[in-house]
Amino acid sequence: MSNSIKVNASVLCADFTKLESQIKMCEDAGAEMIHVDVMDGHFVPNITIGPVIVEAIRKTTKLPIEAHLMIENPGLYIDDFINAGTDIISLQVECYGTRTKESRGFGQYPKVSESFDAQAARVDIAKVKARGKKVFLVSNPATPLCFDEVLKEIDGVLVMSVNPGFAKQKFMPEVLEKIRSLRSRFKGDIEVDGGVNAQTAPDVIKAGANLVVSASYFFGSPNPEDVVKFLKSLPA
Ligand code: DX5
Ligand code: ZN
Repeated sequence: MSNSIKVNASVLCADFTKLESQIKMCEDAGAEMIHVDVMDGHFVPNITIGPVIVEAIRKTTKLPIEAHLMIENPGLYIDDFINAGTDIISLQVECYGTRTKESRGFGQYPKVSESFDAQAARVDIAKVKARGKKVFLVSNPATPLCFDEVLKEIDGVLVMSVNPGFAKQKFMPEVLEKIRSLRSRFKGDIEVDGGVNAQTAPDVIKAGANLVVSASYFFGSPNPEDVVKFLKSLPA
């Protein structure tokens, strides 16, 4: 069994009426991280979780918590999420630089980058680093790998394999090439998020990812422990 693959349980599909026992279930099943999908109704067409939920989760577990910030102006909220107990801050690259004409306006989704402003991103990367936490950059499916100049300054890259906004969407196989290309020049964590399941995970791992996010596959399974075992057994 490979020890290098890590499973990150996304609480978007957890039962929030019993969050504490759901987090305990993640631990018991062998998930190594907790993924919190933060959505603001502007960067994505959905509203979900804020720091107050991270704070509650933090009280129930010692597992690392990742805040996947699908929000506009993420830099304004970095301290709030870290104060709430976040270990990894994941920043969407579409929040830095210029967006495509089709995704620039309010309500135009998915947000896609046509250029990347490394200096702007560095300001927020530095904010996370100054607090001693890890920082990942996230790219939406149609956003190209346009942030090579900061790869040395980040801990990981989160490759979105669905357009962000909702759980239970279909995996987009076109991102496999992006993962392969990134792995050829990046030694840090490559995380994949969206539509990961028994059918899609083997290709994701083969392409070079070492960290997989799962909401519906994990929480929807009658036996989440088997899901984790399966994912961790996949050959690179
Ligand atoms: C999508 C979120 C994902 C989502 C994954 O916008 O970023 O983390 O929860 O859900 P599944 O695993 O069901 O595709
Ligand atoms: Zn996510």
